[in-house]
Amino acid sequence: MVVLFFNSNGELYSIKYFEKSYRNIWELKIAFYGDISTIFSVKYLSGNGAKNLNTKVYHVAKDKKGYILKSAAQIIQNGGLLAIPTETVYGLGANALDGKAVLGIFEAKGRPQDNPLLIHIPDASWLERYCEDIPPLAYKLAEIFWPGPLTMILKSKACIPKETTCGLKTVGVRCPDNEVTAEIIRMAGVPVAAPSANRSGHPSCTTAEAVFEDFAGKIAGIVDGGACQVGVESTILDMTVAPPKLLRPGGLSLEDIRKVVPEVETDESIYRQLREGEKPKAPGMKYRHYAPKAPVTAVFGEGRKSADYIKAQIKNGEGVICYEEYLDVFDGYESRSLGKEGAPREHAQRVFEALRSFDRTDVTHIWTQCPGEEGLDLAVSNRIKKAAGFHMINVE
Ligand code: TXA
Ligand code: MG
Repeated sequence: MVVLFFNSNGELYSIKYFEKSYRNIWELKIAFYGDISTIFSVKYLSGNGAKNLNTKVYHVAKDKKGYILKSAAQIIQNGGLLAIPTETVYGLGANALDGKAVLGIFEAKGRPQDNPLLIHIPDASWLERYCEDIPPLAYKLAEIFWPGPLTMILKSKACIPKETTCGLKTVGVRCPDNEVTAEIIRMAGVPVAAPSANRSGHPSCTTAEAVFEDFAGKIAGIVDGGACQVGVESTILDMTVAPPKLLRPGGLSLEDIRKVVPEVETDESIYRQLREGEKPKAPGMKYRHYAPKAPVTAVFGEGRKSADYIKAQIKNGEGVICYEEYLDVFDGYESRSLGKEGAPREHAQRVFEALRSFDRTDVTHIWTQCPGEEGLDLAVSNRIKKAAGFHMINVE
């Protein structure tokens, strides 16, 4: 990523190229990325337009005195937008109790207004402030899996505004496993509404740089917490029905949930495309999702066979996401590794960045090997199928 710095006379004084994480707090005056012609943040030069904010990037590792956390929490308290790291993906946060602040999230993301937001709390003791009729099983799951990648849909209290719930009587609650973010929420003193921090419909962001690409100049701050450990979003469990129902596979595996709740059911939309007029239980699951610019074809089946199939099909100028073992099959093509075959954790950590990275290239089509449905692979294959618009080939 290329960032340009201007002094107070409007003269360019520095151009920096960031490959990995930031080492300082940068106040960015103007930012270009990818192809150098795209300008994101030009408040300093032109001073017009609502989306010409200077986006601060907070590097928390150097925050010995807590100044950064305080300043980040103040953004939330003041009704601003702050991108926060979580163990799953980065979130685009705002005060969940402030309808106006929450509307800013929809605007920055270009998110449809009927797609509700999850709220993030630092621990289970905050649950009853925002939810009612909480079943004992919800407390049990919170005790076992929180902080961690489990979102529970519960009945919401009236203090959660309609901007957050999109008028539903329920709200998704999540307790992220990230100490920095938990501390920012505690300091702000309010729950933080946060969808994944990506332009609506695009792959989610698992690094602060990816968030910067999508939101520089549009939000007040980005907290850089490094790469997300899990890499796919949280698992969403509807606790308002009995037995509870899995609405979105995610960073907590269905197998792990079944150890505690053997009778849990799964929503069909996880596995297949919705039919005309059919409504998913999680409103957001109906939209085109996780999609890079180039069309994607997902190829299922044993690794050797699917690699051979893709090799026979791929044309010049097309890209491929494949298991580590097959990278050399695609010499001469733009290729990205999904990690080793049979290593779901690696797949989850890599899938979004692999998809996103093709937007920095000119590939005309993306072929991807797609894992099965065990453990975290259920979430990974769900994201790949959606990125491919369910354009899938099975080579078994
Ligand atoms: O890991 C995650 O869950 C990330 C991080 C940032 O916490 N957040 C995230 O949020 O993935 P988002 O907005 O990208 O996805 C939330 C999904 C959407 O499909 C939304 O429609 C659904 O949850 N959802 C939100 N509130 C709901 C509710 N009350 N009932 C059913 N589904 C709901
Ligand atoms: Mg999302």
